[in-house]
Amino acid sequence: KSPIKIAPSILASDFAKLGAEVRAISDAGADYIHVDVMDGHFVPNITIGPDVVKALRPHSEKTFDVHLMISPVDLYIEAFAKAGADIISFHPEAGPHPHRTIQAIRAAGAKPGLALNPGTPVEMLWPLLGDIDLVLVMSVNPGFGGQSFIESQLKKIEIIRKRIDQENPGIDLEVDGGINFETAPRAIAAGANVLVAGTATFKGGEAAYARNIATLRGAA
Ligand code: DX5
Ligand code: ZN
Repeated sequence: KSPIKIAPSILASDFAKLGAEVRAISDAGADYIHVDVMDGHFVPNITIGPDVVKALRPHSEKTFDVHLMISPVDLYIEAFAKAGADIISFHPEAGPHPHRTIQAIRAAGAKPGLALNPGTPVEMLWPLLGDIDLVLVMSVNPGFGGQSFIESQLKKIEIIRKRIDQENPGIDLEVDGGINFETAPRAIAAGANVLVAGTATFKGGEAAYARNIATLRGAA
């Protein structure tokens, strides 16, 4: 199985010094920079847009993993790709034609990912599994950092891991929400290879980032 990647969610960082935070987690061993984009419509919170992604891009050479919690999606794909998003994930409920959205993400030069809410049936994924580069399993309801891990999503990760290994091995299986030192090893055991972690990365301040990331990875 592929090595574990850690994707700190900058939602838990200090927004007053975002560039420095992105630099700090990159130096501390982050694999992906996870950017949570919320529109106050698909989810009940508002965060950042493509101009912020563009401004952050020079502060890190890591993969920018952009998680769109917006509806509609298609209108904004080009802007995020141009801003420097490497991976663009979206929720299938956010638009009528998820397959078309995947094609649009590829056409824009980014890697498409599909994000499944805790209540979204895993079957949504099957017709699209061969066309994407990442599956994002939400282990909280999207909208806020600092929520508790929803246990039932471990089973979903196991089911998806089996199917990925059969049908599209090599793509990422990412888990997002409530990942900490206790839930991280369980998500990995279930088959996740990318862990999003907001609170667990940024707690303790900059001096703790490297240790937090190493512990999440299971390397500490
Ligand atoms: C939730 C976001 C997550 C969130 C995770 O809508 O998609 O990426 O920032 O935060 P923690 O790790 O604190 O649960
Ligand atoms: Zn996210």
